[in-house]
Order: sequence, then structure tokens, then C-alpha cells
Amino acid sequence: AAAEKGGFDWFMRKEIFEQPRAIADALLGRHDEAGQLQLDEVRISDDELRDIDKIIIIGCGTAHYAGLVAKYAIEHWTRIPCEVELAHEFRYRDPILTRNTLVVAISQSGETADTLMAIRHAVKQRARVLAICNTNGSTIPRESDAVIYTHAGPEIGVASTKGFLTQLIACYLLGLYLAQVRGTKFGDEIAGVVRELAQMPANVQTILDDAESVYALAQRFQGTRSVLFLGRHAGYPVALEGALKLKELAYIHAEGFAAGELKHGPIALIEEGLPVFCVVPPRGRDQLHDKMISAIQEVRARGALTIVLAEASDTEVAAYADVLIGLPTVPTLLQPVVATVPLQLFACELATLIGHDVDQPRNLAKSVTVE
Ligand code: G6P
Repeated sequence: AAAEKGGFDWFMRKEIFEQPRAIADALLGRHDEAGQLQLDEVRISDDELRDIDKIIIIGCGTAHYAGLVAKYAIEHWTRIPCEVELAHEFRYRDPILTRNTLVVAISQSGETADTLMAIRHAVKQRARVLAICNTNGSTIPRESDAVIYTHAGPEIGVASTKGFLTQLIACYLLGLYLAQVRGTKFGDEIAGVVRELAQMPANVQTILDDAESVYALAQRFQGTRSVLFLGRHAGYPVALEGALKLKELAYIHAEGFAAGELKHGPIALIEEGLPVFCVVPPRGRDQLHDKMISAIQEVRARGALTIVLAEASDTEVAAYADVLIGLPTVPTLLQPVVATVPLQLFACELATLIGHDVDQPRNLAKSVTVE
């Protein structure tokens, strides 16, 4: 069994460290040197793709969070209105679906019953269904019009890691491809984003090379009963995913919030010494970065211990960080690929220190095939 885990204690930890390779495989053959997308596997004709007037992304758990990130990217690049919904909520609200609706079903296993039932509903309503899936020949891609496989390789640990990062990559590729086919005004920038994506294996590797500092953090927070995660924009789903990982693996109460929502409730939870992870967007033209810094100041003024994930070159934020986790400089929309990794490492290490079975957390299944 140790050999199967490649010398790691858990499949999960092995899978976290496989992420640079998994991302490279997810990108392989899907763009050319010039940054043109080549997604022939999307067997929906260009004319049909040009007619799409709404996208609905569905998934459960971690896959749903990949969808939340995708919404920011796909809407920005394509200008197609995009909704994200939990698969099990989707069909019961009688969603408005037409031939021009693209339903994107994200599922690592391809067997999640809630997601499968949702796509069956979409197919019946004549919407087009595209699956983003890691498991060749599984049920969800078989019942979809098209599939983008994530090529992460088998994921054994119940909590999704490389499955999630490669779902993000597939969503980015889909968004860029739609922009390319439809010729949006963003068109000139596609090649630049593709170049940034190609850097992601190296960027993720940089974070993995510094895993020890995250492990030291886990050591320090071993006795913690509650942890909060804040983010905004594409960093908001990262906060949700960081909290989910802690719940799943360490059985610790953890919540992710959009930082702007703090003042509308969650700030009441802040007390002396409460660990709060803060995902800081890259410095840029918008005000996201500065607004996130104000949020950090708000919680810190109330006694929170801030663990700040920010660009390593961000000198402004250091003053408000009790602990600083440096991230490589990447575009805002792609930041979830790098920002999620320290949170995976933290949850894996903390659960290990507490003594839990990281690969088989209590009450959870790798793939939930009942509704
Ligand atoms: C289960 C797993 C989660 C996973 C979710 C969706 O709840 O424990 O880690 O995110 O199912 O799985 P899927 O295979 O559809 O991505």
C-alpha cells in the first residue's frame, strides 16, 4: 500500500503533489503554440455554440465550487449569462432551459446521482449538456452531448484535490474556447491567458515546494475548534473550498464567506484568537485588493488571527498578516488554481496530526450514487 501511495502517507497527499502533472495533462493538446484553443472533443458545432444564450453550471461539493469560479471567468470572457447551481437543487426549481442553453455538469467521478438526475432533466428539456469529468466512460459523460475530460488520473482520496484543480483548468479552457468561437471583444487576450495557464504547473509546484511552512501552521492550530475563510471575487469559492476541506478531513467547524458579507453578519463570530484565512486578490486595476485588505483589518481589529494568502510580492498586505502565505503572481481569474493548494495542504496535515483517516473521512463517500 505504501508503494501505491508513492511514499506518501495518504493518497490525498500524493494527489496534492501530483497537481502540477495533472494540470499539465489537462492542458495537453488543447491549445497550439500561438494560444489558439483546440477543443475538438466539444462535439457541439461552432454555429450551435454561437447560439448559446445562457450557461448553467451544475455540480455537488467541490465540483460545485469549481463551477462558482468558472462563472467569473466564463461570463467575463464570453459575456454569456452564466448561473451556477447545486445539482440537487436544479431540477426541482423547474429551471428555464431551451435548445440554446448550455448545461455544464462538473463531476470528478461522473457517477454522482444528483448530478446525473440533473442532466437527465436538462436533456429532456432539450438543453445541450457538456460534462467536465475525470472518469473515462462514466455515466454522466455518456449521457451528455459532449465531454471535456480533466485527465487528472485516478483520484482515490475521498476529498477532491487534483480533481478540483483540473476542473478549474477545464472550465477555463471551455470559457476561452467559447470566446474564440464566438469572437468576443476579449478575443485578443485569449492567447495571453493560455500562456498564463501554461505556467500553472510551475506555479503550483512553487507552493508545493514550500509545503513545510503550511505544515508548521497546521501544527500551531491543532487545538482549534473553528476556522473562518474569507475571499472575494474568484477568491470567494476558494474560501468555500478551504472550509469544506477542513470540515471533511479535520471535522472542524469551518465557514467560508465572501469578504464583503462580513459586516452583514459573520463579523459577529470574530473573537480573540480565531483563525481567519484571507485570500487576497492580486493587485490590479480594480479595487478588490484594497477592499480585501480593509476586511482583514476589520477582523484583526476584533482579535482574529489572520492567515493571509497573497501575492508573495505584495508588500502592502504584510502589515495585516499574522501569518503570510506567498502566492505566485497570476491573473485574478486564475488565482484559485494556486490559492487552493495551501488550503488543501493545511487540511490534510491538520487531519493527520489530529489522527483522522484522511483518505476515508467518516460518513463520506468518494462518489455518492444515491440521491
Ligand atoms: C462527494 C465527495 C466530494 C465530491 C462530491 C462530488 O461528496 O466526497 O469530494 O466533491 O461527491 O463528486 P463528483 O464525483 O460528482 O465530482
